Amino acid sequence: MNKINGYKSFLVETIKFDIKQYLNFLKEVYSGNLPIDTNTLELKYKLKKSCLSNIINDELKITSLDELQKIVSECKKCNLYASRKNTVFGKGSAKERLVIIGEAPGADEDETGEPFVGRAGQLLTKMLSAIGIDRESVFICNVLKCRPPNNRDPLPDEISKCSYYLDKQLEFLKPKYILALGRIAAIRLLNKEATMKEFREGKYIYNGIPVLVTYHPSALLRNPNWKYPAWEDLKRMKELLDSSNG
Ligand code: URA
Ligand code: SF4
Repeated sequence: MNKINGYKSFLVETIKFDIKQYLNFLKEVYSGNLPIDTNTLELKYKLKKSCLSNIINDELKITSLDELQKIVSECKKCNLYASRKNTVFGKGSAKERLVIIGEAPGADEDETGEPFVGRAGQLLTKMLSAIGIDRESVFICNVLKCRPPNNRDPLPDEISKCSYYLDKQLEFLKPKYILALGRIAAIRLLNKEATMKEFREGKYIYNGIPVLVTYHPSALLRNPNWKYPAWEDLKRMKELLDSSNG
């Protein structure tokens, strides 16, 4: 069995298992008298199966960052597709072997399709150039590729539906370090809740890549007192990058 078929049949088995579990649960709750007819369930199962195969087929075929970007530009996996103007895939290069991950596009990013181009983005560009990094030499992207309405926090369901794309980006870019900007990016990568202090001071690895956490530039615009500690975080990151890029 090839990789695609193997993966598909694994997923189909997983869905069958989910449905069996769900049926058992319903039987328990309704003492054996199911309040749903089996045809409806059968239909649901078929729909889910075909819908999943489309997504999986698309995703398994991806062999480059450009192909991934095309798939993201057509993505409708979560409800944010309905309100976005543009997807914001991310931009830059793997030259410095650093990937910087923010939260989600804002209004300016949604308008232009480019990450970190608004006020927070301009601050990020300045912070990077202050430590001698040109933003074109790193790859800048976000946890979510579409803008949440009114810049609300991303929902767990949106983060999980979008997570495949970020993981695949990291697979293609193979960075030596990840810089997570703010709590949302840190929680997504490190899979735990913590204070910014704990995140900034901790040593973490995501998919084999060391992760540093610092303040989100939007937080620095609201709270200039954090600029000095953020500067220290960036200096530390630059030293690590320089020593690993030899
Ligand atoms: N804030 C983010 O987290 N990402 C952007 O791209 C812009 C603002
Ligand atoms: Fe797809 Fe991510 Fe956009 Fe949701 S946020 S529609 S999962 S690209």
